[in-house]
Amino acid sequence: MGGGGFGYGIIGCGWVAPAHAWGVRALGPAGVRLVAVADQDPDRAERLAQDFDVPHVYADYRDLLSRPDVHAVSICLPDFLHCEATVAAAAASKHVLCEKPLARSVSEADEMMAACERRGVALGLVMNHRYFPDNIRTKRAIREGALGRVLMGSVMHSSALTGDPSGASPWRGRRGLAAGGILTTQAIHFLDLLLWFAGPARAVKAWTDRLVRDGQDYEDTAVLALQLRSGALATLATTNGAPITDDFTGTRLEIHGTEGYVVLEGDRLRLASMRDGYALQEVRQPPVPTGAAEVVFGLGHVYEVMDFVTAVRRGVPPPVPGGDGRHLMAVLTAAYASARGEREVGLEDGPAAYSNLAAGSGDLLIQGGGRGPGE
Ligand SMILES: NC(=O)c1ccc[n+]([C@@H]2O[C@H](COP(=O)([O-])OP(=O)(O)OC[C@H]3O[C@@H](n4cnc5c(N)ncnc54)[C@H](O)[C@@H]3O)[C@@H](O)[C@H]2O)c1
Repeated sequence: MGGGGFGYGIIGCGWVAPAHAWGVRALGPAGVRLVAVADQDPDRAERLAQDFDVPHVYADYRDLLSRPDVHAVSICLPDFLHCEATVAAAAASKHVLCEKPLARSVSEADEMMAACERRGVALGLVMNHRYFPDNIRTKRAIREGALGRVLMGSVMHSSALTGDPSGASPWRGRRGLAAGGILTTQAIHFLDLLLWFAGPARAVKAWTDRLVRDGQDYEDTAVLALQLRSGALATLATTNGAPITDDFTGTRLEIHGTEGYVVLEGDRLRLASMRDGYALQEVRQPPVPTGAAEVVFGLGHVYEVMDFVTAVRRGVPPPVPGGDGRHLMAVLTAAYASARGEREVGLEDGPAAYSNLAAGSGDLLIQGGGRGPGE
C-alpha cells in the first residue's frame, strides 16, 4: 500500500461485528478507515454505521465488494456464508479476515484458500484468544524452551455461552447453517491454543453428546483425545451446559513439558520451569481508543484486526493464516467422524505448518514480531 489511505469493509453486522469495527478505528491514526458495512438486515447495518461513522451501507455485500476504495474485509457472517463470501471477496481482490470457524468443512476451507491464493490476497482467521496477554506469555515461554520438550496438553472448558445472549442468531445450532456445536463455537478457541502451543495434530479420538440442549442439532458436550505430530498427547473436554456465561471462569488449560509446566486458569497463569531464572515476560500492547475495552469479547479482536491490516500493508502473511483454520476444521471433522464410530481418525499428512509455530516464531506483529518491509 502506498502512502494513501486503506479502506476496510465489514460484512455481517451482528453480535461480533463491533469488535472488528473497534480494531479498524484503532488504526485511524495509521490512515485506515471503515468505508462500508453490509448486512441483509438494514437496521443492523445502519446501527453499526452510525456507531462507527461509516459512510456507506449495503444490504447486498457484493455491492460493498465492488467498491475500489475497500482493500480488505472482515467476514462476520453466519458460518454457512464464510466460504461463499470469502470467494466473492477474493474475486474482487479484497484481503479477507474471516471469523471462526473458517468454514463448515475442509473442502470449503480449501476452496477459500485457493480463491485467495489465485488472486494474491491474504486470508486470515480470527483467533482472538491468541492476543490475550497470558496466552502470548505462554507461547513465548514454550518457544524459549522454558518447558523443555512439550509432552502433554489439556483443556477443560465449560461455559453457558451459546452465542448472542439476545438470541438474535437463528442459524446457531442448526445443521448446515452452523459448522457444529460447542466444538466449533467456543472450544475451537482452546483447541487452537493447544495447537498453537504444542503443534499440529496427527490423529484424534472423540466422543460428542447432547446432554443439555435438546433443541439443537449439534453436540453441547465433547471430549477429544489427540496425538500431535510432535508425538505429544493432548485432551480437550468441553461443555456448554455449565451455569457460567463467560468462557474463562470455568476453563483450565495446561501444558506439561520435560522442564516445566504452565497452568492457565481463568485469569491466573502459573509457570514452573527448571530453567534457571526463567520469568514470564510482560506483554505490552498498543493503546486502543477509549470505548474499545468495552468490547464483549475482550480486546483480542481489536488487536487481531490491527495485526491483520498491518501484515497486509507490509506484504507479509497474516499472523493467523487461513491454513490454521483449515487444520482446525480437519481436526474437528475427524473428531466428529470418530464420535460417529470410527475409533481413531488419522489426519492426512500435509505440510506440518500450524501457524508461525513452524516458522519458530510466536510473536505477533503488534508485539514487535514478524519481519518484512516497513509500511
Ligand atoms: N471470535 C469470536 O469470539 C466470535 C464471537 C462471536 C461470533 N463469532 C463468529 O462470527 C460469525 C458471526 O457471528 P455473530 O454472533 O455475529 O452472528 P449474528 O447472527 O449476530 O450476525 C450475523 C449477521 O449476518 C447477517 N447476514 C446473514 N446472512 C446475510 C447475507 N446473506 N448477507 C448479508 N448479511 C447477512 C445477519 O443479518 C446478522 O446481522 C460466526 O461465524 C461466529 O462463529 C466469533
